[in-house]
Amino acid sequence: MSLYEAVLRPLLFRLEAEAAHYLTVRSVEALQAVPGVLAAVRAMSRAPRERIGFDWRGLRFPSPIGVAAGLDKNGRMVPFFAALGAGFVEVGTVTPRPQPGNPRPRVFRVPSDEAVINRLGFPSEGADRVAARLAAASRGDAVLGINVGMNATTPLEQAAEDYATCIERLYPVADYFVVNVSSPNTQGLTSLQSRPLLAALLRALGERIRELDARNSNGVARPRPLLVKISPDLADRELDDVAEVSLQQGVDGIVATNTSTDSMLRNAASAPLGGGLSGRPVFPKVLRAVSHLRRNVPDDFLILGVGGVFSIDDAWSLLRAGANAVQLYTGLVYRGPGLIPELNRALAERLGSESALRNSGA
Ligand SMILES: Cc1cc2nc3c(=O)[nH]c(=O)nc-3n(C[C@H](O)[C@H](O)[C@H](O)COP(=O)(O)O)c2cc1C
Repeated sequence: MSLYEAVLRPLLFRLEAEAAHYLTVRSVEALQAVPGVLAAVRAMSRAPRERIGFDWRGLRFPSPIGVAAGLDKNGRMVPFFAALGAGFVEVGTVTPRPQPGNPRPRVFRVPSDEAVINRLGFPSEGADRVAARLAAASRGDAVLGINVGMNATTPLEQAAEDYATCIERLYPVADYFVVNVSSPNTQGLTSLQSRPLLAALLRALGERIRELDARNSNGVARPRPLLVKISPDLADRELDDVAEVSLQQGVDGIVATNTSTDSMLRNAASAPLGGGLSGRPVFPKVLRAVSHLRRNVPDDFLILGVGGVFSIDDAWSLLRAGANAVQLYTGLVYRGPGLIPELNRALAERLGSESALRNSGA
């Protein structure tokens, strides 16, 4: 059992879930501002990362272990996660204008299942503030993804404008963008995954991002890949539709998956709570989605596997099933930040004997 599980987690779990989260964010911000702390974290988290890193679309991912969207919605903890050895951090979901999200309480732990349920509804400081903060943040060699969404008051027909505004404002600081059409906590959002709406949205965003790429290239072109984040509750046929539409519209990858609203995954404690479920119970759906998608997309199409990764065996299964990299959220809540260096080291060890990763040699 780690120090986190023995000491910190019992203390944090005595607090209401969201209060524990903000306490963590404030503590991390204070710590990472103290000279020498990030260097110490880096030294403690060292792993032989040359074995596990990979290149994709001009980006160097120093590790395939990353931080999922929602944990650092406003980009406050990027230096800390980079020092821990995260190969990439996905900040957001960011909305164009600041908004408070849904009424509290809106985050619940389900320890009996090592799960979390949230119905946050995109609380966000807004695109401009997040962009300014990230412009000033040190991120080491970690890749920085930005996950974008729409404001709760925006009519669904104008969703594309909201996503595009976020992309435009955050373009200078982002390495890649993720279009979040799978959060169950913003009215109507998940309907954007349906074939015609998704095609129209991705076409509009693809055009906008290519305009921005052209305007910003100045001879040192660094186009920003566009990914789409999907729900674990899509049926195989819907997964096929998303993959096909994404390829048709020139999208570069898929993040699989967001939280689940499937009542079959709930236990007696979590059944009455509205919102999206994350953590251990979603893992089988995520594994299924990743392997299904990989059969239908080309090798250079990025798949980020996310949902219920708590151990090296979980991460390894997703990578073997076709994910290029994995992301963590609920695993960090239950196992602590040490899970990132632990997975980096275990992955390097496995790769020492076996070179079966999709990315190896890339
Ligand atoms: C409290 C909480 C907030 C989240 N917020 C977001 C978000 O803003 N945007 C997003 O795309 N995913 C969000 N997610 C989903 C995670 O990024 C991830 O897809 C999901 O939790 C499954 O991974 P996990 O089981 O490792 O947590 C959130 C998850 C949790 C638990």
